[in-house]
Amino acid sequence: MKLCVIGTGYVGLVDGTCFAETGNTVVCVDTDKTKIDALLSGQIPIYEPGLETLVKKNVEKKRLSFSTAVQAAVQNADICFISVGTPPGEDGSADLQYVLAAAKAIGESLNGYKVIVDKSTVPVGTADKVKKVIAAETKQAFDVVSNPEFLKEGAAIEDFLKPDRIVIGTDSERAFKVMETLYAPFVRTGAPIIRMSTRSAELTKYAANAMLATRISFMNDLANLCELVGADIDMVRQGLGSDPRVGKRFLFPGIGYGGSCFPKDVKAIIRTAQDNGYTLELLQAVENVNEKQKQVLAAKIKKHFGSLSGRKFAVWGLSFKPQTDDMREAPAIVIIEELLKSGAQVSAHDPEALREAKKIFGARIDYQTDNYAALDKADALLILTEWSEYREPDFARIKSLLKTPVIFDGRNIFNPALMKEQGFKYYAIGRQEAE
Ligand code: UDX
Repeated sequence: MKLCVIGTGYVGLVDGTCFAETGNTVVCVDTDKTKIDALLSGQIPIYEPGLETLVKKNVEKKRLSFSTAVQAAVQNADICFISVGTPPGEDGSADLQYVLAAAKAIGESLNGYKVIVDKSTVPVGTADKVKKVIAAETKQAFDVVSNPEFLKEGAAIEDFLKPDRIVIGTDSERAFKVMETLYAPFVRTGAPIIRMSTRSAELTKYAANAMLATRISFMNDLANLCELVGADIDMVRQGLGSDPRVGKRFLFPGIGYGGSCFPKDVKAIIRTAQDNGYTLELLQAVENVNEKQKQVLAAKIKKHFGSLSGRKFAVWGLSFKPQTDDMREAPAIVIIEELLKSGAQVSAHDPEALREAKKIFGARIDYQTDNYAALDKADALLILTEWSEYREPDFARIKSLLKTPVIFDGRNIFNPALMKEQGFKYYAIGRQEAE
């Protein structure tokens, strides 16, 4: 099939490339000329494992191309995806200006029946708005489908190629058949294609992210209680997660969830409820717990050292999670800002996110491409992202470089007993120091 994907952000670029991989001809369009020029010259604007190779392969096979010409891309396509950003507005609601602008551009270009797919995470009722905007521009027949994307950054290709499920919101039999054919290669493993209304599909995406965010805030809240009552959240997590009704995944406490989805989507669903005269009390608490959790590590540091003025801290990990260079809503931002505000110096390492971090902190912190170099004469080491390469470090070397052997681990990647054996004062989340 011929596809047009509007928006070359995370979702658009990954989806477009993966659809090309299964033999479709895909044109990825963006209004940002510099982005398209970069993609045309082979530069991928984001770090996502496997993406660069897959883009290159499909460009060479002439199944994937990049363009700023929306009209031509739409006119040549059977299916048009809207994969543009929906950033949070000041009141927490999703800003639909890019989605509706894409819809207008599609409407102006329509030259025959097409399926228009909302891929962006959009509030309930957006498909109806998109339909209206397109209908105002054209007399051609079309259907609008809601098809939310569930991929995770850092594992996006794998998630897309082997999905857990495909959600398709549409009341049109014709559009559903087209979507079913498009996704057939991805669901051969038995993953279900779940058909529903556009409104249910739109809400499913928010429900999924809100549920996962709830699990994390629940565990973070419990972790704080564990510290007070002398329990270990890691043992509680194992005992709890072994119940198949709960499940083992997404129960890891830490320094709060970040990224481009959870914070924004939890706010947006709360807002949707408010707009409809309802209060989602549980999710309000989920958000409050998360805000509080971003402060716990800095509080522990202040409690340990007293004044932070003139102290230096080594930070390992800046991105909101491993395997990405994405710093959006990263808890590291809140923690580092707090340290800087208290008069401390920060020397940071991250395997992929230094470039993004420089956009946020500029010359206010020091950046190191070698994680051990960040430790030089620092008062303590802070683990803020659980990159694999930090999991089994040379502890003797860490100790020899630090001024005092103190580790604040925001991701619980080390074993408290081992830390004691190695001679470190070790602070983690929801765990006790080894006896
Ligand atoms: C999320 C959803 O998982 C994905 O399905 C959706 O399409 C987009 O949003 P993503 O934001 O890429 O994906 O990252 P994810 O792996 O879900 O992590 C989100 C945040 O939660 C990270 O900050 C991570 O550190 C945190 N997290 C995750 C925890 O604190 N504990 C956990 O157990 C899991």
